Amino acid sequence: MMNKKVKDPNTDMLNDYGSILQNWALAHPRPMPWKGISDPYRIWLSEIILQQTRVEQGLPYYERFVAAYPTISDLAAAPLDDIYKLWEGLGYYSRARNMYAAAQSVLHEHHGVFPNQYKDIKALKGVGDYTAAAIASFAYNLPYAVLDGNVYRVLSRWFGLDTPIDSTKGKQVFSQLADELLDTAQPALHNQAMMDFGATWCTPKQPHCADCPFQSRCKAFQDDTMQNLPVKSKKMVKKERFFLYLVLKKDGQTFLKKRTAKDIWQNLWEFPCIEPDTLPTDLDTANEIIFDHFPNRKPLKTTQISKVFQQTLTHRWVSAVFVTADLGEIDEWVEGCSPAAWDGDLEGFAVPRIIEWYWKTP
Ligand code: ADE
Repeated sequence: MMNKKVKDPNTDMLNDYGSILQNWALAHPRPMPWKGISDPYRIWLSEIILQQTRVEQGLPYYERFVAAYPTISDLAAAPLDDIYKLWEGLGYYSRARNMYAAAQSVLHEHHGVFPNQYKDIKALKGVGDYTAAAIASFAYNLPYAVLDGNVYRVLSRWFGLDTPIDSTKGKQVFSQLADELLDTAQPALHNQAMMDFGATWCTPKQPHCADCPFQSRCKAFQDDTMQNLPVKSKKMVKKERFFLYLVLKKDGQTFLKKRTAKDIWQNLWEFPCIEPDTLPTDLDTANEIIFDHFPNRKPLKTTQISKVFQQTLTHRWVSAVFVTADLGEIDEWVEGCSPAAWDGDLEGFAVPRIIEWYWKTP
C-alpha cells in the first residue's frame, strides 16, 4: 500500500479530518505500554497480540512476553512449546506459530535486526497490510495508513460509504481513502489517533455522536445511518463441532495427545479425541460411539461422562463431553500420548481452554 498524496480539490477538507482527529486524541489520552515507543519488536508483538484480542485481555500477555523475551533474539531462541504455553488462553494459536517463524527469519535473514522497510516487514509471517502499516508508522514514522475494522467503520460513517468492506471494491475504496487522509508528516500520531477513535468513540453499537468533533461533517450522523455502517456482504456461518474426549487414567496419570492436523488448536494438547456427528450425554451412547470408531480395539472400561462443555470460537462452536475410563493394561489406546499427572497442574502442556475448564472442574 503506497501512500498516495492527495491532489484533488478536496485536499483541505480531507486534511481537516486529520487535525480534528489529532486534537481529539490529545484530549482523550489512552496510555498503553506499546505506545510512544519506537522498538519495532515490542510494537510488532503488541500488534500480533491485538490482532484478534481486546486490549484489556491482551495487555497481561504482552507484559509476560516482554518479560520472558525482552528482544526478538530471545524469542527466536525459545522452544516453540514455551511460546505456546505463554500464549495459552489467547486463542488463534497460528499467531504464536507465525510469530515464532517471523522471529526466526529476523534472526537468520536480517541478522537479528527488525527490518525497517515496509515490504520487508510485510514479508514476515503473520504480518499483513494492517500490521505492517502499524509497525512501519509507529516504529519508523513511515507514511502508511492503517486499515482495520475500526478504520473501516470510522471511514464508512464519516463519508456515508455503503460499499461492502469485505468486497474487493470496498477494500480499494477504503484503502485509498485511508491513504488520502493520512497525515504524512505524523503518520504514527495519525494512525494511533484513528485506532483509538474507532475503538473508543466511533464504536459499533453506541457511538459517542453527541460529543463527537466530527458531528457536523459525519454523513452517517446527518443521515442517521450509524447503525447500518459499515456494510458487509457476507454473513458468517458458524459451524458446530462435537468432540468426545477420552480421559484415560492409569496410576494417577492421564494421557494427553498433541493436535497435529491443520485444524483448530494445531500443536495444542488435548485428550485423545473422537469427533462424532452428535454428542452423547449418557455413558451407553458414548460407549457405542467409541466402539463404532475403534471396532478392532479392546473395549475400554468407561466409568463416567461429564456434562457438556462449550467453547465459542470465531468460526466455530465446539461442544465437548469427557468420558473417563480406567485404562488397565490396554495401552493401544494411548499410543502417541504423553502422560500427565492427574490432579496436577498442566505445566508444560499448552491446552485449549475447553480442556482447561474440564481439568479444573471435571
Ligand atoms: N489495536 C491494535 N493496535 C492498537 C494500538 N496500537 N492501539 C490501540 N488499539 C490497538
